[in-house]
Amino acid sequence: MDAITMLREDHRAVKKLMTRFDKGDDAVVPEILDALDRHVLIEEEHFYPTVKQALEEQDIVLESVEEHHVVHLLIGELRQMTPGDGTYRAKATVLVENVRHHIDEEEGELFPQVRDAMGRKELQELGETMAAMAGDAEQRAS
Ligand SMILES: [Fe+2]
Ligand SMILES: [Fe+2]
Repeated sequence: MDAITMLREDHRAVKKLMTRFDKGDDAVVPEILDALDRHVLIEEEHFYPTVKQALEEQDIVLESVEEHHVVHLLIGELRQMTPGDGTYRAKATVLVENVRHHIDEEEGELFPQVRDAMGRKELQELGETMAAMAGDAEQRAS
């Protein structure tokens, strides 16, 4: 699977969880945090560095890294809280809003630029590296 297809599938899975949160399910938040942790790590370790080299214009990658920074902060704070806490849902809502915006930007702007700048074979190889990393993380977690 190529790198972009893989990331899009991740996004779809996270969005599904976030829809459950929208409907009032606070108990789904820890699952969202775990899925996001795995996803942003793969992007930061493999996707962004490779893409940064491939793209001439790097502003969008730099902006993505800053958006991840905010996501990390919110994940860290939410992990210190429990769903019953007064500001838990408010904080999780801000996280979800940020992540939706970030996913839209990646899918709408970054990924198309990356498809133009990188060859199919390159994206395929990058996807394989990322899938191997995701597999390792899964093994460690189980
Ligand atoms: Fe991202
Ligand atoms: Fe992403």
